[in-house]
Amino acid sequence: MPTIPLSQASAGMVLAADAESLDGMYRLAAGLLLTDAHLRVLRGWHVREIEVAAPSEASPAPDDAAPADAATAAAARFAHLPQNEPIVAALLELALARAAGEPAPGRGRLPASRPLPPAEARSPERILATDPMLVSLPEVFMRIREVLSDPDSTVEEAAAVIGKDPSLTAKILKLVNSAFYARTMRAAGSLPPGPVDSLSRAVLLLGLNQLSTLAMGVSVLPLFKDIPPECVDMRQFWRHSVSVALLAKLVATRLGDPNPERFFVAGLLHDIGRLVLYKQLPEVAGTILAAAMTSGRPLDEVERELLGFDHAQLGGMLLRKWRFPESLEQAVWHHHDPLSGDTPLEPAIIGVADMVTLATLSGSGDRRVPRFIPEAWQLTGVEASELATIVATAETHLDIVCAMFA
Ligand SMILES: [Fe+2]
Ligand SMILES: [Fe+2]
Repeated sequence: MPTIPLSQASAGMVLAADAESLDGMYRLAAGLLLTDAHLRVLRGWHVREIEVAAPSEASPAPDDAAPADAATAAAARFAHLPQNEPIVAALLELALARAAGEPAPGRGRLPASRPLPPAEARSPERILATDPMLVSLPEVFMRIREVLSDPDSTVEEAAAVIGKDPSLTAKILKLVNSAFYARTMRAAGSLPPGPVDSLSRAVLLLGLNQLSTLAMGVSVLPLFKDIPPECVDMRQFWRHSVSVALLAKLVATRLGDPNPERFFVAGLLHDIGRLVLYKQLPEVAGTILAAAMTSGRPLDEVERELLGFDHAQLGGMLLRKWRFPESLEQAVWHHHDPLSGDTPLEPAIIGVADMVTLATLSGSGDRRVPRFIPEAWQLTGVEASELATIVATAETHLDIVCAMFA
């Protein structure tokens, strides 16, 4: 099984061992017959060597072809950003500090190639209309939605509706009793005196609206359980989403928002449009990922070019179809371009949380750190000097909250 420099690999060779992107997020599987397109993807991943099945006349890799170290890779993810901006400089410093001791994160695969569906089947409306999973919402979700939309609903009714789903109830109670919630509630001046052992108490504590929003968000997560593992590393995906959720709620709480729960849910669901694409159009999603990796362009930009819409819009449209609160839908819809929405603060909080997460805590398929939008950061009021504390706070709770959604 010779290992050869990628520069000497050619179409027609067969991979003898998995080849991974530098950050471990994507992988071409052993046994793959390499094409020129695969070789372009591997170059985009900065893979220097591959193992091939057929004997090769290739010579060993020169010393200078050794893989870049984690710090170099981290700095490369910031190369397109204005490094003289204090926010960018602070994020880069945090990323470099983490890269010093961090192994590569989890792994993912590029989707297998499938025939491309006709263009008319790729419109966001069509995508959201044809997937049976997306049109058959959990019963508990619809009941919670009814409670939310009825101004005469009582605490007991809300608790009874959520309580019909034991798994959802367990998740909500664990979350509300977590150290993260204690912290954000203390910051909001509403720390409970003891454990929240029933949904009725949870409703009293968070308020009907907030708890129902949280329950709606958590109740749809099982719909995305059967995404093929070759499309996306779901553990890594949810880790990214939970990180954005934690950061978004922290920022919203600091701003004194009266309903910070919707930011947690918006963070949790902000990239849900990606999951819809992975599930509905895996071949297109694979092409987009490969194009983004090889060109170094943001995923949402490549999506708009190839599809005419991006995952943020698709996710926002899905939440609209599911009749989530409008502010939540807008936060998801505009998270990559907060200033394009009617209410830029909500998407700005999600966008900032996404940037901080991708820079420091967890990636989700887009190797580059998203672009810096100074106006969005100004809206959130987050300063460069606070970033280390905010990131450390979110990181402290990340594993525990991720485990609650496993
Ligand atoms: Fe996104
Ligand atoms: Fe994201």
